[in-house]
Amino acid sequence: MRLFVDTADLEEITKAVGWGVISGVTTNPTLIARAGQDHETQVKRICELVGDVSAETVTEKRDDLVVEGRRLASWHKNVIVKVTSTPEGIAAAKVLAGEGIRINVTLCFTVNQALLAAAVGAYFISPFVGRLDDIGEDGIAVVRGIVDAYRQQNIKTKVLSASLRHPMHVTQSALAGADIATMPFKVLEQMYKHPLTDQGIERFMADYRRTQEPQALKR
Ligand code: E4P
Repeated sequence: MRLFVDTADLEEITKAVGWGVISGVTTNPTLIARAGQDHETQVKRICELVGDVSAETVTEKRDDLVVEGRRLASWHKNVIVKVTSTPEGIAAAKVLAGEGIRINVTLCFTVNQALLAAAVGAYFISPFVGRLDDIGEDGIAVVRGIVDAYRQQNIKTKVLSASLRHPMHVTQSALAGADIATMPFKVLEQMYKHPLTDQGIERFMADYRRTQEPQALKR
């Protein structure tokens, strides 16, 4: 499973890329607004740091989405255009995918929405795990359902598990068979953490320092 970060913060992206574990970024209008930059500037900057950068459309009608999607895709070869799981969004996705533009169908909450995205040749489908959990539904079950349906139907659209809130969501996404997990930077950091790792390092370092003391070396 590939790992993406879900942020538009350049410092976080630079750090995560430096760790060598992430191969893409997902953004949305909320994340771009948080970064305090205009959409185009920020997306272009992110594309210079990493491949597979999802950038979201903000228009609503099919024809407007098509124009907007073409514009987003023209910013950089790494851009993947996000459209929402609506009739207009999916119709626009069909036109854009037909032109060879990679599409991420976002705000997906059901297997049926994922089937619609696949029907028009979406590159990614993004089920939102955390937002489903927030309303008392089972987000990971939806990811599992999409993975199973895609396997049975031999569908090539990749399942991008999104709206992940904690490290267990990442583990569960992998076990459910997701192709990619996108997570906030904080969750990526948490993936490295275990108290026994910290304790082990402390112990090894203390023992190493002990052997460096002159009296220890004489023993
Ligand atoms: C993914 O493409 C979205 O940007 C993201 O995962 C949404 O997550 P949220 O529900 O935490 O806002």
